[in-house]
Amino acid sequence: MSGYQLAEDVSLAGRNTFRVPARAAMMADVSRADALAGLFEFAMLRDGPVLMLGEGSNLLFAGDFPGVAICLTMAGVRIVQDGPEAAVVRAEAGMNWNDLVGWTLARGLLGLENMALIPGTVGAAPIQNIGAYGVEVGEFITAVEAFQRDTGQVKRLDREDCAFGYRDSVFKREPERWVVTAVEFTLPRQRELRLDYAGVREELAAMKVDTPRAVHVAEAISRIRTRKLPNPAVLGNAGSFFKNPVVPAAVADALKDRHPTLPVFPGDEGQRKLSAAWLIEACGWKGFREGDAGVAAQHALVLVNHGQASGAQLLALARRVAASVHDRFGVALEPEPRIIGARFDDPGA
Ligand code: FAD
Ligand code: EPU
Repeated sequence: MSGYQLAEDVSLAGRNTFRVPARAAMMADVSRADALAGLFEFAMLRDGPVLMLGEGSNLLFAGDFPGVAICLTMAGVRIVQDGPEAAVVRAEAGMNWNDLVGWTLARGLLGLENMALIPGTVGAAPIQNIGAYGVEVGEFITAVEAFQRDTGQVKRLDREDCAFGYRDSVFKREPERWVVTAVEFTLPRQRELRLDYAGVREELAAMKVDTPRAVHVAEAISRIRTRKLPNPAVLGNAGSFFKNPVVPAAVADALKDRHPTLPVFPGDEGQRKLSAAWLIEACGWKGFREGDAGVAAQHALVLVNHGQASGAQLLALARRVAASVHDRFGVALEPEPRIIGARFDDPGA
């Protein structure tokens, strides 16, 4: 029982939600965290490029991957500590994120409801500190278990060690170092629901719910998301293609003076977050299509594959979109998905 299965020259087309064609020189499906030390003994893994692959909902393959793609399949979940006020839940990396949201809500554990229906795995959730509708997952994570490639050991990182930020963490900054194997969440049995994000209260009202509970919030948000975002099963995409740009407050104020309808959100001390969707729509890209690469008609922040677009074509479009926003507003857009096989800011690389 090695705990992993290896295959050569594997198609990744069905393993990324953009559904672009790409191949991995080797693919390892791993079913046990304790198999990782043995797997990384292989020279190709020790010295060559390795890509951790979840459900591929935040990746853009600009070309083939010349190394080993590793997919963790272990998907157990259990309550490791129970109490009258909160419980600690440990979920393994391969579990589907939305299944975990449903599992916790069914046990009266709150906190993850605003993040219902985000695609992907539990193991990928801490990588960019997934967030939606006013909540980020880092608020509820109390520990991440991760195999550390340079020491060959599984380490337990507390929340402070994870350095969570907006679409950011230590795992995202050091992708060659960490393999997230499990995540521990501390979830309360009672808490004030977060209903402030635009559209949530209106959706609950449309559902005729007067005294919402967490399950209603999850349902309302699932309905909003289904309306707003294209379904990757129907139209290839990776959700938001760009992060919302964070700029100094003075820059945001100056832009707002010139463009009063630009949505500006609070940021950390002295910073503001701008709506990338608004900036892109203002440059006329919403619904744009060239060949099979396009910008979604229902949301300007989502790039879409209408069928046969390659990763390189989607990347070229993304660069044009970012360049036009920069020319018009002086604001730099940074991609949210990880780009494999190219550098966004260096077309020559
Ligand atoms: P992948 O895309 O496979 O990988 C993403 C990154 O994580 C890669 O760098 C990969 O190497 C790394 N990684 C994956 N697993 C591991 C692991 N076990 N250890 C170490 N590194 C790992 N995101 C949000 O935050 N909020 C949203 O509201 C949201 N909405 C979306 C809507 C749609 C329609 C889509 C398609 C995507 C959306 N996303 C959103 C992005 C995406 O769902 C998340 O980033 C998700 O966490 C990616 O999970 P995955 O398993 O598909 O990861
Ligand atoms: N907007 C436009 N044009 C559009 C779409 C939106 O101008 O085509 C404006 C809206 O008017 C609104 C603002 O943009 O005022 C924000 O729109 P939305 O609520 O859809 O959120 P977003 O900022 O575009 C972010 C996340 C999403 C997350 C939602 C909800 C980022 C990069 N994206 O999108 O996450 O689901 O908020 O919390 O932070 C993802 O990361 O893949 C993702 C989908």
